[in-house]
Amino acid sequence: MDLNLDLIGKIIPGELYYKEITESTNLDAKMMANALDKSVFLADEQKNGRGRMGRIWSSPSGCGIWMTIYLKPQTDISKISQITLIAGLAVSKVIKKSVIKWPNDILIGQKKVAGILTELSAHANNINCVVVGIGVNVNTEEFPVELRDKATSLYMENGNKVNRTDLICQILEQFFSLYDSFINKGFSAFLKEYEEKCVTVGKEVLIINGEITKKANAVGISENGELIAEIDGKIEEINSCEVSVRGLLGYS
Ligand code: BTN
Repeated sequence: MDLNLDLIGKIIPGELYYKEITESTNLDAKMMANALDKSVFLADEQKNGRGRMGRIWSSPSGCGIWMTIYLKPQTDISKISQITLIAGLAVSKVIKKSVIKWPNDILIGQKKVAGILTELSAHANNINCVVVGIGVNVNTEEFPVELRDKATSLYMENGNKVNRTDLICQILEQFFSLYDSFINKGFSAFLKEYEEKCVTVGKEVLIINGEITKKANAVGISENGELIAEIDGKIEEINSCEVSVRGLLGYS
């Protein structure tokens, strides 16, 4: 197996919790009431991998990176959705050919190669922990029929199998470095870099909020990481927690 837990453990400031098979690393992280800040939950396979908006995240054995970073940020609860953008930026910086579909879908071309599911455990306004689940399709050779138009893997794009340990280490190093700067300087320090990677800006998009779908022009990203959209001639700032965004032409 290409998962070297000793090497991965060395670059994690907290603890590494590994399971060969689990339901979902996000669930594992949320169930751990008092893990150390910056711990990582990693699995070779997830039986019940979860995506944004209640979707399923296909997570077979040996094919991908299924991991969750456990954080105890001393920050305002309103900043949590920005952590998810920072995680997307970290993954996209490591996967050189990739771009970001706001807020944090990582695409190669029109197809998704990685996704991020951030969840919060809080009482009133006090954050207990934030769990940032990262899924990367690494060595997947074939997707189920229903995903073939939308999903890709690094192997499918490059024709080479990728060592998951190397990739995990690069993503975690990148994430912890960006996250420390984010805690000190805020999201605005990353806005330019994020916008350069983000393909949503400048596009016509559909903003889907439950049953309601609206056409919009994505015109920018705000200092707080919200999508600035023009809807029926009016400018609105859209928070990533509330909506799903689709391109009118293709996935991105
Ligand atoms: C999405 O794009 O919809 C988010 C996908 C997030 C998948 C990862 S895999 C590791 C972690 N555990 C989960 O159950 N989900 C996240």
